[in-house]
Amino acid sequence: MAQVPAVHRGVRCGRLGARRDDEPEALLGASRRGAARWVPAGAESRVGTPVPLADVELGHVARVHTGLREIDRVLGGGLVPGSLLLVGGDPGIGKSTLMLQLAMAIARSGERVLYVSGEESEEQIRLRARRLGEVPGSLLLLCETDLESVLEAAARSKPSALVVDSIQTLSRADLEGGPGTVTQVRECALALLHYAKGSRTPVFLVGHVTKDGAVAGPRVLEHMVDAVLYLEGERYQHYRVLRAAKNRFGSTNELGVFEMLDSGLREVPNPSEAFLSDGKRAEPGVAVVASLEGSRPLLVEVQALVSSSFYGTPQRVTSGFDPRRLAVLIAVLERRVGLKLGRHDVFVTVTGGLTLDDPGTDLGVALAIASSFRSRPLLEGTLALGEVSLSGELRRVARLDARLREAAQLGFKRAGFPKAQASDAEGCGLQAVPLTSVREAFDALLGEKVAPPRPQSETREPAEERRG
Ligand code: TYD
Ligand code: MG
Repeated sequence: MAQVPAVHRGVRCGRLGARRDDEPEALLGASRRGAARWVPAGAESRVGTPVPLADVELGHVARVHTGLREIDRVLGGGLVPGSLLLVGGDPGIGKSTLMLQLAMAIARSGERVLYVSGEESEEQIRLRARRLGEVPGSLLLLCETDLESVLEAAARSKPSALVVDSIQTLSRADLEGGPGTVTQVRECALALLHYAKGSRTPVFLVGHVTKDGAVAGPRVLEHMVDAVLYLEGERYQHYRVLRAAKNRFGSTNELGVFEMLDSGLREVPNPSEAFLSDGKRAEPGVAVVASLEGSRPLLVEVQALVSSSFYGTPQRVTSGFDPRRLAVLIAVLERRVGLKLGRHDVFVTVTGGLTLDDPGTDLGVALAIASSFRSRPLLEGTLALGEVSLSGELRRVARLDARLREAAQLGFKRAGFPKAQASDAEGCGLQAVPLTSVREAFDALLGEKVAPPRPQSETREPAEERRG
């Protein structure tokens, strides 16, 4: 291998967590007052000695609260010392903003935080920070793209947390290829991994995501890090959702919700309220579903639009919903409910830029489509829950009671759900409508037909009308 820079070599060759002679004592943190909370006691003492798994004590991993509750939630209850985290997302979605806010939040508790940027100038970052609030004195900034310099700065300033924005801008001078190449990204991430483990410092890597969802360049990054967090949302809408795609320290279901304001990302404590906007209104094509996201149910509005297709192949377009799942629901509506959707375009949108993958939301989406097709709104204040099987029957959903309680709290009146779960729904404060199939839901939960705003083409409607 070509010449390896001194700091880099030191970090690579050291065993994880080992005390090295040349390593600044404070990197280990044990004797450092400020970092004591970040370092589990005795972590450095048993290196190289296998221990019986059964003897490993649980509960010694001290999680640190970052000061941003939504991030703590997504991480599974706080930051784990020495963890390497990848934060991905489309350009412009707010990764740098989120990381700077996180750095400021940690620094506010008096901890030193090093924010490394290879993308923007000091002035640019200062300008952004000004929008975000008062800048704590213990937040250090380094605009640098050379890995060795970054590691040297980290070794010198011994931060309690390190942010690298972005991993694609870092490079090792001794390696071929510019920043962003697979080799550079992998080697730089590896060096930072060793730094994180060796110094017990949590390290956040920002990574750009390509259109198809992969973290640009190497997917190897995803294997290397302890957690992969994605910041998602529609760029021109203001909600942002932080989701863990991988998490070695917690579940991957938890989700943090933010709102992008002029003063940065604001945590949204009650996302259901936010996502619903006007969700209780009775309008054809609108349904509310309760999606279970980690430990909490989220009420989300789904909109469907069904219109005659003027081209050979009808379009099925979704935003925030799996297109294959949509195809299944359309087939079920066609065969089990008798809705002739074959020559209609179907569009489905989930509000708030959220992506639904909880199967319990099937029924709501199916009803939104049926509702738009028949111009019959769902009964006012109605929530529909259930996984739809190919036979058109409703399958049980997880934690029905929690979902119903959330809906009751937000003023919903009525809920349709799988009959098999009738006992779970007792005492939830909603009028219960137990259902066995989509067909039954269609009959029970859709209201009267409303006149569409413009007369629709006469050609197909009458025939379909008779079937309903
Ligand atoms: P940025 O964090 O730079 O995105 P990324 O690092 O993912 O590329 O910011 C994204 C957008 O957020 C940018 O277009 C401006 C906007 N923004 C706000 O609306 N409010 C704010 O307070 C800040 C800092 C940015
Ligand atoms: Mg950025």
